[in-house]
Amino acid sequence: MSPETAPHSGAEFADRTYIVTGGGSGIGRAIALALAEAGARPVVAGRTPERLDETVALIEKTGRSALAVPTDVRDPQAVDALVAAAVDRYGRLDGLVNNAAGNFVVPGIDLSPNGWRAVVDIVLNGSYYCTRAVARHLREEGRGGSILSVIASYAWHGHPGTVHSAAAKAGVLAMTRTLAVELAPLGIRLNCVAPGPTETDGAGAALWATPEARAGVLASVPAGRFAAPSEVADTALFLLSDRASYLTGECLTLDGGQWLGKQIYGRTTATA
Ligand code: HXC
Repeated sequence: MSPETAPHSGAEFADRTYIVTGGGSGIGRAIALALAEAGARPVVAGRTPERLDETVALIEKTGRSALAVPTDVRDPQAVDALVAAAVDRYGRLDGLVNNAAGNFVVPGIDLSPNGWRAVVDIVLNGSYYCTRAVARHLREEGRGGSILSVIASYAWHGHPGTVHSAAAKAGVLAMTRTLAVELAPLGIRLNCVAPGPTETDGAGAALWATPEARAGVLASVPAGRFAAPSEVADTALFLLSDRASYLTGECLTLDGGQWLGKQIYGRTTATA
């Protein structure tokens, strides 16, 4: 594929196969749909079969192919079976999107060990199990590939109320930077995308469940709006694609300026 290939031409990812965890909703579904539109066969994994089936149906309606594999990423054996199912169906695997996440807002001092474990297991352990399984397959096949993890800027600046998620996402960033080096000789690239507040049901329910909470989040974004899942998918596809072929161990933040936008001395952003 030449670097000049137009994005979303329907051929950029022709016949490639990518596993997308959490592919039954929100950002994961948007990435799966965009991958299919660009010619790939997404394999969507998650805990709720009905939601995965909905994603597959949306893709099949466009004349493309996708596979649903109900999977709990916290179970390493289930993750190995997911990789085997993807290869069995499509004959090859080219990469992975670690998107499955769990989150809720609670002061860290009040979080139970089980609550901590639930989020860290999904986000950090699950991303590692999936990355390991996909990388091992790529190594066996002697083929390079691309692995993308969806994190959040609080991986590096922290965030009161989501200590479990912030710590887990920070772990995923460190995992990405570490394995980007270890796996570079095999032609396997690892990167992250850090979306800001994104208009999805899952994040909305977990993080801004009331109109007041939503308004507060919105006020924190200099761009003045939430991200659309399709915007996150665009960045995700760039990082997965050959257009980013020399890019590894990086994180692209798309948050409308949110994490940089501390306005300590009053409102200092431009008005129209
Ligand atoms: C306090 C809570 C809680 C809450 C769960 N727990 N919700 N504690 N406040 N709101 C505690 C439970 O009491 C329990 O501990 C433990 O967490 C496990 O809960 P379960 O429901 O048994 O676990 P499970 O079914 O595995 O569910 C995992 C989950 C759930 C994380 C709790 O919310 C989930 O699966 N969510 C997936 C969807 C999701 O959250 N998406 C949003 C991602 S958005 P005890 O001690 O009682 O047994 C995102 C964006 C970040 O990550 C970036 C934004 C910028």
